[in-house]
Amino acid sequence: MNKITVKGGNRLYGTVQISGMKNAALPIVFASIVTGETCIIENIPLVDDVLKSIEIIREMGGSAEFIEPTTVKIDTKNFVAGSSPDDLACKIRGSMYLLGAELARSGETVLKQPGGCNIGKRPMDIHMKAFTALGADMDEGDDYIRGKVRDKLRGANIYFDFPSVGATINAIIAAVTAEGTTVIENAAREPHIVDVANFFNTCGANVTGAGTNTIKIHGVEKLHGCTYAIIPDMIEAGTYMTAVAATGGSVTIEGIIPKHMESVSQKLIDMGACVEEGDEWITVTSDGHLRGIKIKTMPYPGFPTDMQQQFGALLCLAEGEGEIYESIFEDRLRYTAELGKMGAQITVSDRTATFHGVKKLTGASVRALDLRAGAALVIAGLCAEGKTEVSGADYIYRGYYDFVPTLRRLGADISEDKYATHIYGD
Ligand code: UD1
Repeated sequence: MNKITVKGGNRLYGTVQISGMKNAALPIVFASIVTGETCIIENIPLVDDVLKSIEIIREMGGSAEFIEPTTVKIDTKNFVAGSSPDDLACKIRGSMYLLGAELARSGETVLKQPGGCNIGKRPMDIHMKAFTALGADMDEGDDYIRGKVRDKLRGANIYFDFPSVGATINAIIAAVTAEGTTVIENAAREPHIVDVANFFNTCGANVTGAGTNTIKIHGVEKLHGCTYAIIPDMIEAGTYMTAVAATGGSVTIEGIIPKHMESVSQKLIDMGACVEEGDEWITVTSDGHLRGIKIKTMPYPGFPTDMQQQFGALLCLAEGEGEIYESIFEDRLRYTAELGKMGAQITVSDRTATFHGVKKLTGASVRALDLRAGAALVIAGLCAEGKTEVSGADYIYRGYYDFVPTLRRLGADISEDKYATHIYGD
């Protein structure tokens, strides 16, 4: 089991270059299947989940080669729908985008239930509803999801009960080459949804309204290949912003879109950190003395659930009381028990965690239970007295490239023991 060891107490200084966004790269890699042509995708984050998605394309008959360190050339001319490798597909959440891509490309899909971090129930009913509206017969069993287009995919009006990120993207993927117009109401508005729409439009699709809660897709007969660069990862950026706020110091995060960071920046300012921003950078400066605040996770542009756990680490040492209400996933507060082993005072009731700020955390052996929980425990370790060992670090590698070397460059006393085991999820 991979393990990260941190000795707390060092402040962080320097700059960090942010990678492409994992949650945009995953759907765009699978969306390239719809084109059946060659797509050159730049700014690919070299994180385990995305590398797995590329491996899935290869195992399904496509070709995918890195022509630059972070640029992959994908050709899906020979892609065989319905042949997804169970062992890989069920381990990453992003494999859910094969459903939309296969329906669009060949009218048929079969997929082992996508995996995912254990953060509560992850139903697929909203995805199913969208595919059904577009003209597919869907059958969701415990192990497999199967779908077959009745005649052809046809544009439809789709209303989502909840703005699911995955279902919004899957509906776009299935609708881009459907006959007629699709309107998705109460769509998710996350930046990666805009990125998927921009990718498709670069391939000749006609998608408008992405980034608002009404997305219109005028189906086109055929897409062509393209060259496209993935947007920067707002969660990776937010994680380093949180780390420096916690330890104290001054770190500039480069290669980002500051607008995507607004909810995170505002919460850091509310806690007492200084946040300055330019066109493509943000500098966070902190003396490490923060105050407790209230946070409620919400769909974008609200505070992201994927930043909740990192802020949990921050609230442990903040003065006074802090509170996190997790509104998106029903079971994403289990990491607080691990923080408790380090001396944090946290009480959890249903979806609310209340943090009673303590003067110090003490290093301990703790376990990452999912990707962002792993990042949160490392942040706590950076501020704790003594040595913290975070096991289950495989989770962290799924979503952060070069996490430990980056933190070491910023001044952290941190090391890792990497073995060949891997956990996948999200
Ligand atoms: C994606 C991200 C994940 C992030 C989440 C919310 C990927 C690979 N994962 O997950 O990192 O935390 O967005 O920003 O991009 N729901 C249903 N039925 C459905 C679909 C979702 O009830 O058919 C519920 C979920 O259980 C959850 C909520 O909707 O409570 C949000 O889920 P969703 O936005 O779909 O998240 P994912 O796309 O799975």
